[in-house]
Amino acid sequence: MPSRGGWRTVMEKGYGGKTMADAAERVTLTEAEIAVHWREEEYYHPSPEFIGQAYLTDRSRYERFSLDHFPDCFKEYADLLDWYKYWDVTLDTSNPPFWRWFVGGRLNAAHNCVDRHLARHRNKTAFHFVPEPENEPIQHVTYQELYNRVNEFAALLRDFAGVRRGDRVTIHMPMVVELPIAMLACARLGAMHSVVFGGFSGKACADRMVDAESRVLVTMDGYYRNGEFLDHKAKADVAVREAAAQGLAVERVLVWQRYPGRYSSPTPLVEGRDFVVNEILPRFRGRRVDPEPMPAEDPLFLMYTSGSTGRPKGAQHSTGGYLAYVAGTSKYYLDIHPEDVYWCMADIGWITGHSYIVYGPLALGASSVLYEGQPAYPDPGRPWRIAEELGVNIFHTSPTAIRALRKAGPEEPKKYGHRFKLMTTVGEPIEPDVWRWYYHVVGKGQAAVVDTWWQTETGGFLCTTAPAIHPMKPGSAGPAVLGIHPVILDEEGHEVPAGSGKAGNICIRNPWPGMMQTIWRDPERFIQTYFAKYNRDPQSKDWRDWPYFAGDGAMQASDGYFRILGRIDDVINVAGHRLGTKEIENAALGVPEVAEAAVVAVRDEVKGIMPELYVALHPGHRESEDLKQRIVDRVAQEISPIAKPRRVVVVPDMPKTRSGKIMRRILAAISNGFEDVGDVTTLSNPEVVDEIRRLVGSLKS
Ligand code: PRX
Repeated sequence: MPSRGGWRTVMEKGYGGKTMADAAERVTLTEAEIAVHWREEEYYHPSPEFIGQAYLTDRSRYERFSLDHFPDCFKEYADLLDWYKYWDVTLDTSNPPFWRWFVGGRLNAAHNCVDRHLARHRNKTAFHFVPEPENEPIQHVTYQELYNRVNEFAALLRDFAGVRRGDRVTIHMPMVVELPIAMLACARLGAMHSVVFGGFSGKACADRMVDAESRVLVTMDGYYRNGEFLDHKAKADVAVREAAAQGLAVERVLVWQRYPGRYSSPTPLVEGRDFVVNEILPRFRGRRVDPEPMPAEDPLFLMYTSGSTGRPKGAQHSTGGYLAYVAGTSKYYLDIHPEDVYWCMADIGWITGHSYIVYGPLALGASSVLYEGQPAYPDPGRPWRIAEELGVNIFHTSPTAIRALRKAGPEEPKKYGHRFKLMTTVGEPIEPDVWRWYYHVVGKGQAAVVDTWWQTETGGFLCTTAPAIHPMKPGSAGPAVLGIHPVILDEEGHEVPAGSGKAGNICIRNPWPGMMQTIWRDPERFIQTYFAKYNRDPQSKDWRDWPYFAGDGAMQASDGYFRILGRIDDVINVAGHRLGTKEIENAALGVPEVAEAAVVAVRDEVKGIMPELYVALHPGHRESEDLKQRIVDRVAQEISPIAKPRRVVVVPDMPKTRSGKIMRRILAAISNGFEDVGDVTTLSNPEVVDEIRRLVGSLKS
């Protein structure tokens, strides 16, 4: 929990003096954000051409989604889907905060994303798969081909791997078209998928498999990243071994081949456990599997995300509510029309990819680009060449990617003939300056930009401008989307009014269909994390008493736009990837010499925020480059290279309170170069602060 008054203090004092006094334990991260978000920005307006073709141009629709029309307004989203059986109850609130949407309805997500498009779009491209090596041809997978392949893989999962409705299947794959095929095959059978980001380690995959109790792992032999062919199968071996150590026996490892017909990994297959999908699939050629008519409230998937404790949380998303919500928001806020070519550069292994590469766009019958590799490979012109070649007109990415592309090739987009009608930014606050480059240079001043704020837990967008209605304001996400009613609360639960110039904790007043159902196997943690803070009465059956606590600091300007300042809990958002500080600390503590570890967030020009790691060693051990490298390697190995700390600082002692708690805010202040580290009177060892400051000052960045 943030300490009292952190936001207010920061806002009242302004930022000029870089003061940290009284700041809350964790607001250092967000203070850095405030620095770049300070000034009110001017508005930008969408072009008449964009408005002329947009789906959402009628302001009165917001009235139709007002609280007066809650929850029935969401019928409009559910009606974008095909239902085997229509629902009886739009929203059941009898067991707060476990809301149930579209109760009694039955549908299948794979049917909605694939089968139902065959009648009109059989021959339309569902995915343009772009391999990273530029000399490999782009594969254009039609809806018919997607249908065939999803059916055949569903048959394989069911008849070869024994997957049944309700089972959890872990999918640890790179960005290839076989990934959505595997997800949709699970959905067809009514099995839940749990996709683990391909860049995560085997150990991270194992932790998630164990929590989900998945007996089947779907993986791939290898893939390209930054010009290198990576051995991915090796991670599956680690995952199975680690899972076994934690008591889970993985029965089947299904390995796709990056080059069908050729096994491309140096890691051998394990007899009786590992099976090459491409060798088994011919047995299922032409097979059809009837989509399972799933109750709307049955889970579609788990998506693990970091929280304030070391253990990742399995966000459980429903079939009906989730699919309706991502279909509706894809239609109105991404404005995807049948003739558009849409490219979201996120990885499917994160929620953005689930909602806005796979389920939302496919529910609308869109044509999407799926790119295997690193955006700036082999040079920063690559994304613009892909966009030009495929006629991409909707582009979706993160501030980190934008910053990196700008840094590497600020003039590059001008050389290409792409023309975007809409562009998205998601995952972190975007600096107004970076926003303007995106708008003027990438979008050539013609594209509407939506800055979409949301989370793994929320399933889909919560705040953004409606691209043809609301003007854009750099650095601000915008007002709430249809049917979402946010409020900013202070620590005592009082509303912080719009235009007050004060920040607080952003919450959502009402339930919505895309909201996660629970944390897998941990309903108590679900209540504690998202509702306990502001719940007025644990017995209340009234949803108004259960605002959703998002864990982000925000402020609302007088125009109603929300400016998101960043996380207020122990989560670090590195390049749009959410990492728990505790996860990183735990990994560092796995190195025998390390006695204590503390991670803080440091501002970085390209990645936005990066972790910096402070460690204290057990007596008798000395600092060395080798030790620091082993600590960094351990973090990469246990979690992922994205979690690697920018620096490891070995300190003689951690600044601690008298009760022994490490004061991370002091370390964060030092790492971020603040002159004033704030109140040190509660420290049991205040003398260590100057020592650490000297130490850090002498280090190279
Ligand atoms: O802090 C917010 C930040 O990303 C967090 C959610 O991360 P994750 O669950 O991984 O989902 C990322 C994709 C939706 C939020 O709590 N965040 C997300 N979008 C924005 C943002 N911060 C500022 N502006 C955004 N548009």
